[in-house]
Amino acid sequence: MQSMRCNRCGDGVRGIRAGFRGIRAKCAGSGNSVVLPALSSLRRLHYNRPMANTIDLKTRRAIVTGGAQGLGRAITERLLDSGAGVEIWDLDVKLAQSTAAELRGRGSVDAVKVDVSSPADVERAFAESLARGPVDILVNNAGIAGVNKKTWEYPIEEFQRVIAIDLMSVFYCCRTVVPKMLERGYGRIVNIASVAGKDGNPNAPAYSSAKAGVIALTKSLGKETAGTGVIVNCVTPAAARTAIFDQMSQQHIDYMLSKIPMARFLEPHELAAMVAWLCSEDCSFSTGGVFDISGGRSTY
Ligand SMILES: NC(=O)c1ccc[n+]([C@@H]2O[C@H](COP(=O)([O-])OP(=O)(O)OC[C@H]3O[C@@H](n4cnc5c(N)ncnc54)[C@H](O)[C@@H]3O)[C@@H](O)[C@H]2O)c1
Repeated sequence: MQSMRCNRCGDGVRGIRAGFRGIRAKCAGSGNSVVLPALSSLRRLHYNRPMANTIDLKTRRAIVTGGAQGLGRAITERLLDSGAGVEIWDLDVKLAQSTAAELRGRGSVDAVKVDVSSPADVERAFAESLARGPVDILVNNAGIAGVNKKTWEYPIEEFQRVIAIDLMSVFYCCRTVVPKMLERGYGRIVNIASVAGKDGNPNAPAYSSAKAGVIALTKSLGKETAGTGVIVNCVTPAAARTAIFDQMSQQHIDYMLSKIPMARFLEPHELAAMVAWLCSEDCSFSTGGVFDISGGRSTY
């Protein structure tokens, strides 16, 4: 027997058996379906190992979009612990404010309400941010999954919504922030793409298309700014158990886990460690790069 918490109501959920790829259990409180991690992954010593390396981001100021929760929150925490000041840009400003309040003991962190799919909102937020100080780091992390449906059944408006939030937002933030980074001759941009953008996940055509676009945008922009001091990379994580799972069908979650040779989900702090390095001065000869963090799934 193994147990974990339901990500909706927080109650304990118990499974009766753990196979190689993990099993599904239902929470009695919320009725939510929860995938229990495979026993093989729970046994691994490195599963929750604290970070061994220190990244120096002292004096740096960062914007993390979608930093209120999930992967963005883990990235915010890691940047704070590395000495950077962080502005969380999130549509869910209440959650962003409570996250910032929780993390304030670890450094300078503020929450700003921004809809990154609105160019006007992005420009307004960046102008306000610049009034508080220069921005050295931009992590384009905000995103949604969209519904799981086959391409020919996919609602047009939903496809457009996913492209707007997952791809257009990255374009808006980059086109707004890059000129100021170029003026200063320094900047680090990390775009959070996905294995879906490389492999194309079935029943996620909008998400896969948007993330493929993020990868290509990163390659274009990285070449345009090469040699200027502004470095742009993206990461392609496999699935991590965050609130984004609530938007997906259980079948889709099972599919994603079944594709990961390490037979477990990504832990948010593992992604945060990679992103922190990509945000640092140590990352000096990689630009337009696509960094794999997929437990062996998409190693190209
Ligand atoms: N969790 C995964 O399995 C996984 C895997 C690969 C890539 N990713 C990518 O990582 C990023 C973060 O995902 P997550 O799992 O932490 O998701 P999450 O749902 O936990 O958090 C996403 C955050 O983005 C914010 N957001 C959504 N739309 C926004 C908008 N228009 N403007 C501003 N903020 C907005 C939400 O309020 C939320 O706080 C996304 O780009 C996602 O596609 C996630």
